[in-house]
Amino acid sequence: MSRWSCASGALLLLALCAAPLAAHGAQLLPGRTWSIQAADQGQVKQAEWDKPWFCHELDCPPFKLIQNFTDLGLELREYRAGKWVSTKVNSTMYEKAVTAGFWRLFKYIQGDNEPKTKVDMTAPVTVRITPGQGPACDDLYVISFYIPEAHQADPPVPTNPDVFLRAAAGARYYVSGFGGWATGAVYLDKAEQATKLLTAAGMDFDASHFLTAGYDSPFRLTGRHNEVWIPAAAAPTV
Ligand SMILES: *[C@@H]1O[C@H](CO)[C@@H](O)[C@H](O)[C@H]1NC(C)=O
Ligand SMILES: *[C@@H]1O[C@H](CO)[C@@H](O)[C@H](O)[C@H]1NC(C)=O
Repeated sequence: MSRWSCASGALLLLALCAAPLAAHGAQLLPGRTWSIQAADQGQVKQAEWDKPWFCHELDCPPFKLIQNFTDLGLELREYRAGKWVSTKVNSTMYEKAVTAGFWRLFKYIQGDNEPKTKVDMTAPVTVRITPGQGPACDDLYVISFYIPEAHQADPPVPTNPDVFLRAAAGARYYVSGFGGWATGAVYLDKAEQATKLLTAAGMDFDASHFLTAGYDSPFRLTGRHNEVWIPAAAAPTV
């Protein structure tokens, strides 16, 4: 079942309903400090933060762990503001939308930009899914690559009019991570599980959309990592 129906959107929206406050073993982390000042945004050396193992050799968007909800299997992360390259696709099929979006962005990093510069691949590939927004109850997908640190200050400009640069504000997400091979159906299932857990725990989140994050190319056979990101508060539309 890889179709994101309007019904699945409604299910996520249902999760907005108020839920009793519940005590649950949230583990507060001693403040991991940002070694980076706001004025240095875009100048982050990837070695200067605790880059997680699943980024491997690639640049990843820096975040700090705010809280580890070990019993829910969720982390609350705060991502720094940063630049991304993105493209939008309306579709009823996750796989179709992501394939179309991925290749547009891949061409951008291969030099389909001004001034025809090669840009290193980063991780993860994120897909922001807003259910049921399209003309035929199809979903809006925004596929994005993080701009590597070397280009954050002055990213090459996309040549394809369907590809655009985006300065994302800092944002918090509840993140559920898992291994193996993720399909649209698996991501939807994980997102629904996460929203149910958050609702049961009485935690606020924005149920209007969520993101999937895939860290690996199809050629990595082991040590794969995938995530769903549930916005912890209303986020600006892309
Ligand atoms: C969160 O807690 C779980 C369970 O103790 C642990 O496996 C995981 O590594 C922790 N996550 C982070 C980012 O520290
Ligand atoms: C997707 O559908 C919406 C609603 O009809 C429309 O406003 C938007 O332009 C479409 N976006 C793309 C990328 O086709």
